[in-house]
Amino acid sequence: MNLKDCHNVEDFRKLAKKKLPSPIFHYIDGGSDDEITLKRNSESFNSCDLVPNILTDVSDVDLSTTVLGQKIDFPLFLAATAMHRLYHHHGEKATARAAEKMGTMFGISTMATTSIEEIGKLTNAPKLFQLYIHKDRGLTDNLIERCRNAGFNSMCLTVDTVVAGNRERDHRTGFSTPPRLTLGSLLSFALHPRWTFNHFLGEKFLLSNLVHVTEKGSSIDKSVIDYINEQFDPSMNWKDAEYCVKKWNGPFALKGVMSVEDAKKAIDIGCTAIMISNHGGRQLDGSRAPFDQLSEIVDAVGDKIEVILDGGIKRGTHVLKALALGAKACSFGKGYLFALGAAGQQGVESVLQKMKAEIKRDMILMGCKSVKDLNRSKIRFRKD
Ligand code: LAC
Repeated sequence: MNLKDCHNVEDFRKLAKKKLPSPIFHYIDGGSDDEITLKRNSESFNSCDLVPNILTDVSDVDLSTTVLGQKIDFPLFLAATAMHRLYHHHGEKATARAAEKMGTMFGISTMATTSIEEIGKLTNAPKLFQLYIHKDRGLTDNLIERCRNAGFNSMCLTVDTVVAGNRERDHRTGFSTPPRLTLGSLLSFALHPRWTFNHFLGEKFLLSNLVHVTEKGSSIDKSVIDYINEQFDPSMNWKDAEYCVKKWNGPFALKGVMSVEDAKKAIDIGCTAIMISNHGGRQLDGSRAPFDQLSEIVDAVGDKIEVILDGGIKRGTHVLKALALGAKACSFGKGYLFALGAAGQQGVESVLQKMKAEIKRDMILMGCKSVKDLNRSKIRFRKD
């Protein structure tokens, strides 16, 4: 199997499984506890059906939308995810270039393996920075200022990771960052010589945005779970979020909002957007899927704040369903990380091309000329 055999997200997942040492693959693929939420995130899209209209002249379809102040060519962007150097030796640079080429937005994490400055120099594509609030509070100001200077367009604060989820796959595989050759993992690395060669001989694995500030940030050298539990600040609260919104003073999203109550508070503190997300099923297992929660939140706040649906997206129809319920745009993480692991920049470009083509074809089949035509009249929930 190789890139030309990848026709959808699931195919990229299979190729990533083949290309990556198992601790790395399972780190992206996995969720927490029994992975009920992880599964539901995608399955939730199947509890409703699209209702197309016919004879609407769909010779010209406009897929573009504007989110967090940025116009993107189609309503799906790359959620900020951590440590892209794990998946491919070109790391976030590969992701950024693919996003630019495909006309969409991408994000990098506080835990990125490429610096804010390098990304700023590399691309003019719309870019989002994802903040994690560390116990070292000086870091927050430092990151926000650096993003401003590097030309980042928007900021999101992830609020669902004050403690790490219980990712049992990582315990089983002995996943560590940077990846370490241990007796247990040796076979898996040996079976993936290309990844292993590129990883260990390429640029050093560094959490590039933290290296100047926290000594520990220069590399993790333990599990991500330990890092989160030691470094992230569980005392984070609404005042801290408001501080970040004011400090950034530009398009700002809260990522990990799951309740109407919190969506309303996000408006009160001046957010531009909320990302309905459960961190890809990696945090609270048994929590509701973003798509299941979407209507309730849109009904309450959809006219006052942009609502972004994040989680479980594998198909163009998933994006259409979310937009029909009132989401402004969708983002995915795993979907493009599989592609990054499968084939670097080319892989990410390819999965974006496929998703864009699906969205376009689905819009045509729905009789929709523009994303604005997607509304509640186009969707029905099943009674069973
Ligand atoms: C994770 C964090 C680091 O889900 O985003 O592993």
